[in-house]
Amino acid sequence: MRKLPFDQGKLESICGRWSTPFHLYDERGIRENARRLKAAFAWNPRFREFFAVKAAPNPYLMKMLREEGFGSDCSSLAELVLAEKVGNTGDMVMFTSNDTPAEEFLRAAQLGAVINFDDITHLDFFAEAVKPAGITFAGYQSPFCCRWNPGPLKGGNAIIGKPEEAKYGFTKDQLFEAYRRMKAAGAKRFGLHTMVASNELDPQYIVDTAALLFDLVVEISEKVGITFEFINIGGGVGIPYRPDQKAMDLEFVGRGIEEAYRTRLLAKGHPDLGLYMECGRCITGPYGYLVSRVRHVKDTYRKYIGLDACMANLMRPALYGAYHQVLVPKYGGIQDNWDCGPELIPMEREVCDVTGSLCENNDKFAIQRDVPKAAPGDLVVICDAGAHGHAMGFQYNGKLRSAELLLREDGSVKEIRRAETLDDYFATLDFSGLDSFV
Ligand SMILES: Cc1ncc(COP(=O)(O)O)c(C=O)c1O
Repeated sequence: MRKLPFDQGKLESICGRWSTPFHLYDERGIRENARRLKAAFAWNPRFREFFAVKAAPNPYLMKMLREEGFGSDCSSLAELVLAEKVGNTGDMVMFTSNDTPAEEFLRAAQLGAVINFDDITHLDFFAEAVKPAGITFAGYQSPFCCRWNPGPLKGGNAIIGKPEEAKYGFTKDQLFEAYRRMKAAGAKRFGLHTMVASNELDPQYIVDTAALLFDLVVEISEKVGITFEFINIGGGVGIPYRPDQKAMDLEFVGRGIEEAYRTRLLAKGHPDLGLYMECGRCITGPYGYLVSRVRHVKDTYRKYIGLDACMANLMRPALYGAYHQVLVPKYGGIQDNWDCGPELIPMEREVCDVTGSLCENNDKFAIQRDVPKAAPGDLVVICDAGAHGHAMGFQYNGKLRSAELLLREDGSVKEIRRAETLDDYFATLDFSGLDSFV
């Protein structure tokens, strides 16, 4: 059973200050979760999670996670800037990008980030990009890393697809060549990365991924004559979006990887190394809620519950057919697998589509789903929106991005991003030019 960290009364009081829709994050949930992750890998003193900034690029959330010891996994210039703003520089930043522009390599290198290459051609491209700043492979303080695409060695994942069909990473042969070239250019610190899953709920899949990397580290070290400081098994740890799904058993993953670490790495003569992850979804996902109000209820060929939130606030359902649970706090009580506090009124349910207001027929949070019955004016909570939620927002149809709020551990609420205004929306247009434009 999961527990909502707020009830109808608390939500209504928050709505007295901020209008719906908004994203609400639960600080206590995020911090406790971060500590659980670290505890599962406590056997590895150099364990580090680099929070995938793309999942929730909010500096307040990032700073909280930095306090918990997490670095930042960045894939773009803006994400690098955010990492720097919260104090993550040097090897607290992992730069895992693809199709990378020169200025992003330069910025990452100036920050001293761990550079994680996506392709063998990027080695020379990087060297050229950072030359004007006097940065070289030989002089670089942080490790270099390559992203391995294991191709057919790893089974496909419903979201990320089969590795051999994915655009990311090096083939195995290319890896040997890349590490040889970096060694020859004077690089001294190395890591190995892969990312083959998205929203994966099978703990054995994650253990097997680490085991493959340990084997490869041993092989590359022997053949190229380098030692590795870390493996990074990427992100992709799933969360239970559906009521019948179970959260990833992190303790199982921790124990399984520890076993592989001993038998497949240390026993083969490779020295200790750090286990790195770059998870986003499983860190903040379950602790973020999209709070919305019912605007209209419509009864035509189907029953429609029309919200003031739309896919511009959370596009996963429209993009992937993703499932997010829908709760109606006015009832309190137990709703699916959620404890929503004391029962307030007896719950009624109905089958309907829960929709937003975009002129797109896939703008639906739930389709023909049995949900607690909601009426105009009711608050509705869409669960597990704390990762790849607000971050994927967009402005189609002139929809404005909503505010992000943080429910602090002491029960207070902090605005960590204000809602956009029409002025923000029009800020890139120069209306005065219209007068002289025929
Ligand atoms: C390279 C890389 N690292 C980490 C992540 C984070 O994945 P997740 O939020 O599923 O853990 C992603 C997601 O797209 C990614 O592309």
